[in-house]
Amino acid sequence: MSSQSVAFLGLGNMGLPMALNIAKAGFQVTLWNRSVEKAEAAQKEAAAEGLSVTVAESLEAAVDGKHFIITMVANDEALENVLKAMLSHCKKGAIHLSMSTISPSCAKACAAKCAEFAVRYLASPVFGRPEHAKAKQLSIPVTGDERAFEESKPLLESLGHRVTYFGETLHGANAVKLCGNFLLLTMIESWSEALALGEANGLDREKLTEFLSGSLFPCPVVQNYSRMIAARDHFPAGFVARLGLKDASLIHALGAESEVPLPMASLLKDRIQTMLNSCMDNLDWSALGLLASRDAGVDIQKWLHKS
Ligand SMILES: NC(=O)c1ccc[n+]([C@@H]2O[C@H](COP(=O)([O-])OP(=O)(O)OC[C@H]3O[C@@H](n4cnc5c(N)ncnc54)[C@H](OP(=O)(O)O)[C@@H]3O)[C@@H](O)[C@H]2O)c1
Repeated sequence: MSSQSVAFLGLGNMGLPMALNIAKAGFQVTLWNRSVEKAEAAQKEAAAEGLSVTVAESLEAAVDGKHFIITMVANDEALENVLKAMLSHCKKGAIHLSMSTISPSCAKACAAKCAEFAVRYLASPVFGRPEHAKAKQLSIPVTGDERAFEESKPLLESLGHRVTYFGETLHGANAVKLCGNFLLLTMIESWSEALALGEANGLDREKLTEFLSGSLFPCPVVQNYSRMIAARDHFPAGFVARLGLKDASLIHALGAESEVPLPMASLLKDRIQTMLNSCMDNLDWSALGLLASRDAGVDIQKWLHKS
């Protein structure tokens, strides 16, 4: 297999568009997903775009001989399971780009496991939602071996427009990701509460959002989330609430481990837990907006009917 060969493991909301972009950039892509139907559907989607990708018969076959291995699975546990099954089948010197949002402690343990099998580990989680993944607009912090980073740059640049190397500290990129998601969550909760306040004072949510996001916060990420919150547009989920709880828990745990008080993180974790306990578990994490509406006395039943 050439240095252009890539095994892509995990074809959920994010993995599918990322894998297709890698194939579009000319890499030889082999797909694997725990439930095989998603890999087969991805292959059909690739073919419809004139791309040829291979579906592996097993996880072991997917990684066999590949130069790059990308994981984009749900959480720490999923990544640990995948690594356990794949590492003894990886080529020595292969590069594992670990792109899921995982805990820094899991990243350290996974990097050490990879090293036992002479596989180079790069922490490279992503910022952006599925639509940004599709448009090659992900932002990607990276940490790990610098030579492996240089080798992986063309691959990473086929996925995003901002790829930034943060040095050799193995779990550093995962901490960058958690800092970023902490800011995002804080913004989503604050925006949700502000719109509940505006609405209670007779203001139109969408007009208020358009004004505030256009004047005070003319930033694409804020504009995208505030539009979803104003329109109560949370289904289908681009980033499902249960994964939001995972991220809020990781932020909270990293604060505790680092002995850094994060009073907002405790609150945000509880808000998402309340969402999950309120029939919002299959909505997008931006449905924190619905929770703020409910707390303000709005009947939110009609926005829950799909959950
Ligand atoms: N969605 C976003 O906006 C977004 C943005 C940035 C980062 N992320 C992060 O990216 C990662 C993937 O998110 P997503 O939104 O694509 O999630 P998703 O749509 O729920 O997909 C999760 C993927 O993980 C696989 N998986 C789950 N448990 C597994 C296990 N035990 N063993 C093997 N595979 C397993 C799933 O396989 P099955 O299909 O078989 O269930 C699926 O391929 C997460 O870490 C998330 O936090 C998401």
